[in-house]
Amino acid sequence: MATSNKEIIPELLNKIADLSIKDALSFFTASFAGKVTFSSSFSFEDQLISHEILSNELPISIFTLDTGRLFSETYSVWVSTNERYNTHIIPYYPQHAALEAFVTEKGPNAFYESVDNRKACCFIRKVEPLKRALKGNAIWVTGLRAEHSPDRNSLEFLEWDESNQVIKYHPLLHHTTEEVKAEITKHNIPYNPLHDRGFVSIGCLPCTRAIREGEDFRAGRWWWEDADKKECGLHVHS
Ligand code: ADX
Ligand code: SF4
Repeated sequence: MATSNKEIIPELLNKIADLSIKDALSFFTASFAGKVTFSSSFSFEDQLISHEILSNELPISIFTLDTGRLFSETYSVWVSTNERYNTHIIPYYPQHAALEAFVTEKGPNAFYESVDNRKACCFIRKVEPLKRALKGNAIWVTGLRAEHSPDRNSLEFLEWDESNQVIKYHPLLHHTTEEVKAEITKHNIPYNPLHDRGFVSIGCLPCTRAIREGEDFRAGRWWWEDADKKECGLHVHS
């Protein structure tokens, strides 16, 4: 039986242990040519990773999941990023038939009514398109950081995603917000102005609010739900 990519994670972790982010990304593009992709939500951390990829011309595709409910500020950062780096970030959209059926039956804001509705909306608008975006890839680069939530605090740089059969790489896992901000300023990287208005983790407009002093990072996402239900299904940690 062929070795699964899951089994080589310990070996890969050793190989990248002392590498810079740029060198680790280059190592992956050499080892898995044409099979490395990065998902950007245009957050602070994602903008820094896009900068590493695009300014170093690394052969890594960059995609975004356009749920159709993003903030107008998010679309503006997308435009500035395309312009600054002379690139075309690839959007993935929900399957129109599934979305039309869901919104017809439940209405446009059904996510506020139940966790089931919210998860169904996230599935149609994010999880299913993500599956298509990851198809055929071996390495999925993400902007996850340990600071985001206790759940993410226990992650390693590399993680196996069973449902998408890819290795996830979280290059900024142990970066602090200050470190990310400092890099954004240093390189004059376009960023979402909502970050200056109390938004730390930015998703869809109806499901994201700014956080108040002392609240945790995820407090502004799906704030009407219990804390333990607050993952949208993109990142399911085994
Ligand atoms: S979520 O699970 O709560 O939605 P979060 O907003 O913390 O995720 O972002 C973590 C990482 O998931 C981002 O750094 C990015 O790699 C990926 N991600 C989240 N939302 C999107 C999106 N709309 N499009 C592409 N990637 C995304
Ligand atoms: Fe739907 Fe809200 Fe999930 Fe966006 S975050 S896909 S609007 S439930």
